[in-house]
Amino acid sequence: MDLALETRKPSEAKADVLVLGRYAADGRPPAEFAAVDRALGGLLSKVLASEKFEGKPGQLSYVHTGGKIPAERVLVVGLGPHRRSDRTRADAEPMRRAVSAAMRRARDLGAATVAVFVPPDGLSPRERAQAIVEGGLLGTYRFEKYLKEKNGKAVRALTVLEPDRRSAAGGRDGVRLGQIWAEATCLTRDLVNEPANVVTPTFLARRAGEIAREGGLKLKVMDRAECARMGMGAYVGVAQGSEEPPKFIHLTYTPSGRARRRVAIIGKGITFDSGGLDLKSADGMLRMKDDMAGAAAVLGLFQALARLKPPVEVHGLIAATENMPSGTAQRPGDIVRAMNGLTVEIGNTDAEGRLTLADALAYAVKHIKPDEMIDMATLTGAVVIALGQGLSGVMASDDGLCTRVLAAADAAGERMWRLPLHDEYREGLKSDIADLNNISSQRGAGAIVAALFMREFTSGVPWAHLDIAGTAFTERELPLGPKGATGVTVRTLLGYIASVDGRR
Ligand code: BES
Ligand code: ZN
Ligand code: ZN
Repeated sequence: MDLALETRKPSEAKADVLVLGRYAADGRPPAEFAAVDRALGGLLSKVLASEKFEGKPGQLSYVHTGGKIPAERVLVVGLGPHRRSDRTRADAEPMRRAVSAAMRRARDLGAATVAVFVPPDGLSPRERAQAIVEGGLLGTYRFEKYLKEKNGKAVRALTVLEPDRRSAAGGRDGVRLGQIWAEATCLTRDLVNEPANVVTPTFLARRAGEIAREGGLKLKVMDRAECARMGMGAYVGVAQGSEEPPKFIHLTYTPSGRARRRVAIIGKGITFDSGGLDLKSADGMLRMKDDMAGAAAVLGLFQALARLKPPVEVHGLIAATENMPSGTAQRPGDIVRAMNGLTVEIGNTDAEGRLTLADALAYAVKHIKPDEMIDMATLTGAVVIALGQGLSGVMASDDGLCTRVLAAADAAGERMWRLPLHDEYREGLKSDIADLNNISSQRGAGAIVAALFMREFTSGVPWAHLDIAGTAFTERELPLGPKGATGVTVRTLLGYIASVDGRR
């Protein structure tokens, strides 16, 4: 989609559909709105009154302009309550959702070009433009490459209207950021939506290679033998039942100046989780192509980093493999040794994500020595029981890091909730014959137990773990996307990296 910012007034904007945002109970309409209404001879206010338009979030109403202004149709969308008076929280999410709803309607009306005007509120011009672009791009995302009959309708161009020239520079910045953040999210969605017979570990490594080449990033890919030689016994153990060769992917973004901080971002990359010899049920296995959503978020993130060039050194790690049952597969009761020397008894071959992540964390600690680490993983069914499909679980060994991650998630509209790393539950991970078992002998708190297992491999480096098993994929349409992959955590991570400061 072509994106632009214009300093034109809405009444002068040329587009198939002109979208006007309207707050609830905002009394006298803003000047730009009144000007359009006047040009249409009062038709707009008449239609809104007769349709009882109240500006509720996502409420839509439209009129044909009959050539009285350059735009062919005016589509008014409700933004919910105005937040100018509420200084505690400027929230971009209502704006993203409203623009998403309006863009979907404009598309269904057959519009190829859309111009959007939203009156100012508590957000800066940059934040406002970014929210508009994110709403437009994420809301109209589709994955239809495997359909013979594609939906022909698509919006080709989105123009953000910013009639106040003093706000234009900030607005242009916002358009650019919105485009980069949303396109990175859509790259992640594409990868997760692709089936597991296409997205193999080899495919992920190839895709990482393309992103590295386009963005001038460093890439190192290690194969099965090399990972074994490096001592990644936990990761290699998961991979040993699979004919698809595993790939350990290490992407590096280095800023041109002095890096403020070094961070490692790690994504769970199980391209298909059958459960292994502890085989999942048919129902439980059905969606397990999405078990690489964390890895896909790493790749989306790096595409964006190459374009944004933040002053932070960022390492992306993916221990990619399938988890398959076979004659060579890892057995329940096997013992493996991770890169940090700890031995693990395999209590259940379906608790494979934490094994692959354990070695990725240990690799980061040993070879990258980051200031902070964050991992994203479709790790446990338990987090879905605890928090449902609307919230990702956050578990962190460092309160400051956790606070920054949660703030970034909030600003991105990606809802998350912290769960405690309750020390007493570590007891359940003890094994009689190894340093750890990969499952707990105690009942409940499965998401926390998995995080406690992983913490053993962090060597005290500040670390946050995002369990996205409930949020990476949706069975129903959401305000910012269709059924399928959500691309969750990409925009949170971008906000987090933008917030990283010079303190060490
Ligand atoms: N990939 C699954 C977790 C998952 C479940 C993701 C549902 C998305 C939706 C993970 O590898 C797994 O199988 N976890 C087990 C752990 C158990 C064996 C301790 C689980 O959650 O049941
Ligand atoms: Zn599993
Ligand atoms: Zn898994």
